[in-house]
This record gives sequence, structure tokens and C-alpha cells, in this order.
Amino acid sequence: MCALEREREREGMGCFSCFSPRRNDVRRIEIENGPRSGTRHSADSSGCGYPGGGRGKDSYDNDNGKGKGTLNHNRGNSPKCSPARSFTFRELAAATRGFREVNLIGEGGFGRVYKGRLETGQIVAIKQLNHDGIQGFKEFLVEVLMLSLLHHSNLVTLIGYCTDGDQRLLVYEYMPMGCLEDHLFDLDPEKEPLSWNTRIKIAVGAARGLEYLHCKANPPVIYRDLKSANILLDNEFNPKLSDFGLAKLGPVGDNTHVSTRVMGTYGYCAPEYAMSGKLTLKSDIYSLGVVLLELITGRRAIDCSKKQGEQNLVSWSRPFLRDRRKFIQLVDPLLQGCFPVRCLHHAIAITAMCLQEQPTFRPLIGDIVVALEYLSSQTCTSEVHNSRVHSPPPQSSSV
Ligand SMILES: Nc1ncnc2c1ncn2[C@@H]1O[C@H](COP(=O)(O)OP(=O)(O)O)[C@@H](O)[C@H]1O
Ligand SMILES: [Mg+2]
Repeated sequence: MCALEREREREGMGCFSCFSPRRNDVRRIEIENGPRSGTRHSADSSGCGYPGGGRGKDSYDNDNGKGKGTLNHNRGNSPKCSPARSFTFRELAAATRGFREVNLIGEGGFGRVYKGRLETGQIVAIKQLNHDGIQGFKEFLVEVLMLSLLHHSNLVTLIGYCTDGDQRLLVYEYMPMGCLEDHLFDLDPEKEPLSWNTRIKIAVGAARGLEYLHCKANPPVIYRDLKSANILLDNEFNPKLSDFGLAKLGPVGDNTHVSTRVMGTYGYCAPEYAMSGKLTLKSDIYSLGVVLLELITGRRAIDCSKKQGEQNLVSWSRPFLRDRRKFIQLVDPLLQGCFPVRCLHHAIAITAMCLQEQPTFRPLIGDIVVALEYLSSQTCTSEVHNSRVHSPPPQSSSV
């Protein structure tokens, strides 16, 4: 048994039978959950309830939670949005100059992501599904449907999609600072680490995005794939959640959970969900706790390059989270001591609550938003400025 497996067992996640990182870090996986008793529920077969599921688009609220039955999203906190449009493959090939390598900005579980310029001049990110069979197609459909209905300033905007032949592509607003993990881990020496204030700002925005999904969408949406790679950043480090291919409509009525095939990303997945397949809103809260821990520590949720006992961030951090005197040892050394200690204590307390083993003990997202907003009002004024500069992730492009 390798160190990571032992770690998983200790975390109660020994059931992960498949862990296949695609790059140097944690990748999205499909996790077959062995110990779960009973049969696999078919609830997952549609990925999301509404396509043909009898639950029409119109059951979605807009962002204020009051306007049931309306698809008008242009109020309150929602950015101005026009509906996602259909593109031809030719248009997207032209936008990326034939999907040239120089325009490649990332690659994830779904496929490759290119920077492109539309005919209108708008810069976009274009994600091309690798021909990975039914699961990929299902995620594509769920992504288009979810992002067509959900609009919030902390969710990425879907500009359009392409379904020419067997091609499946998604066109998003371009997020110039890339994803959060590009700014937290393995930084080039000349790149300035995120300050405490920026980390809190990102935490608040990510939590607000999740609050929208849990509390304003009707029925609620369980995101299922909250991780630092899915938090995209604009030029001012405003975060937006991306990748809704795994999202599920949450329990309605008296139901406390939905049963699904276990999907998610190793290291971010709540233990009870990994064990039983019972998905609740609290599964997302656990994942948020892992992201908060990454923001505080500057360590990856899973890091196989670390020594035994340090590879799984949550299990490594448990002894520190339990003892206030050890809180300081959790902090990312790249912060160079520039953070308000009181705020650090609060941030760690919030994180520890999110990471409770018992889902019912984890806080509701609304309470987390309030707590994080309080922290963001206590800004740290003693930030170090050095010669390192913030820069977008390395990517040149010819678009
Ligand atoms: N809208 C976007 N704007 C800018 N960069 C993006 C955008 N979407 C994705 N990326 C980049 O592409 C990478 C891969 O994205 P994705 O396919 O979602 O993979 P992952 O499984 O890592 O989330 C991201 O980590 C990010 O750096
Ligand atoms: Mg992603």
C-alpha cells in the first residue's frame, strides 16, 4: 500500500478505486465507491434533473430568490448577460487560428482550453471536449444547461457552444489571471504571491458564488467540483466558479440528499460522499473548506511530491486545526508574516468548521459568507511589497 493509499484510508477514503492524475496535480476523477451498500441509483443518469426530467427551466429563480419562474437574470448581483449562442466549428477554429499550440492555455479532465478571438474582437476561452464518450457528452450538456440558467458575478459566463458533428466545444468569457492554483502553488520566483487580502477576497467571492448556487437557485444546485483549479480570476482577482459539468440539482421537499455515482476531485471530496454516494449541499462546504485551507497554507489538496503524512492536506492539517497555538504553523511561508493574526484565527476556525467529518456540523454557506465578509473588512495594512510582480499565467498567444 503506497503512502497515499494509507493516507486515504486514514481519511476514510479508502474506497477510491481509481485515481488517475492527468497532469502534475489533482485531476478530476470518477470514483467508484465500493463499500456503499445498495444499488447504484440512476439519479445520476441525467446528470441534472431538468433535461427531460420534468423540471422545467422555469423553476429557476434569478439572483434574488424571489422571482420564481423567471429566467430574467439581469438584476441584483448578476452581470449583464445574453443567452449562450451556437457557434460553428469553423468560427471557433478561426478564433483560435486552427487551435494552434501557442493559444493553448490549459488542459483539464474535459479537454484542452484555448484562448481565442471572436469575429467581434471579443477574447474568449474555448474548451474542446476530447472524445471521451458518454460521460464527457453528459457533462457538456449539463454545463450548457446550468450556465444558461445560472448567472452571477462569481460564476463564469458561458458565451456559447458548438455541436457541429461530433465536435463539442464551450466558449467562455476569458479570465486573464487564469485559475487560483496558478497563483498559489509552484510559483516562479519572479511572481508575487497572493497577499492575505487578496486571498480573503477570493474566498469571499468563491463563497458568494456557492451561496448563489445553494440559496438563490431554485431548486438548489450542488456544485460537486469546487477546487482551486475551478476558481478563475479576472484582472482584479475577482473569482468566478467554473466547470458545472458535474453539478446536480439538490434535494427538494423532505429529501436530505440525492444519491449519485461518486464524482469529484480527489482531495476535495467530502468523506461521507466518497463513502456512501449521498450528496448534500454540505459536500460542497467540505470542498470549500479544502480551498480555504489551500489559501491559508499555500499547499495543494493532494501533493504526491511531499513526504509521507503530508501528501493529503486535510489529514496533514488536522493536528494544527485542533490547537490554536499551532495555527501559525499552517500559514503559507510566502505570506512572510503579513497577515492579521486575529483574522488568521477566524479564517482557520471557519475552515475547520467546513472540514468537520460530520456533514451536519458544517456551517451553511450563508453563514460562511457573512463570516468571510467580516474578515475582508478587517484588511491587513502591513503588506509587503517586493520586486515580484503579479502576472497572468505564462501564455502567449497569437490571437
Ligand atoms: N474561462 C477561462 N479563462 C481563462 N483560462 C481558463 C478558462 N477556463 C479554463 N482556463 C484554464 O484552463 C485550465 C484547464 O481548465 P479545465 O478544463 O476547467 O480543467 P480543470 O479540470 O483543471 O478544471 C484552467 O486551469 C485554467 O488555467
Ligand atoms: Mg476547470
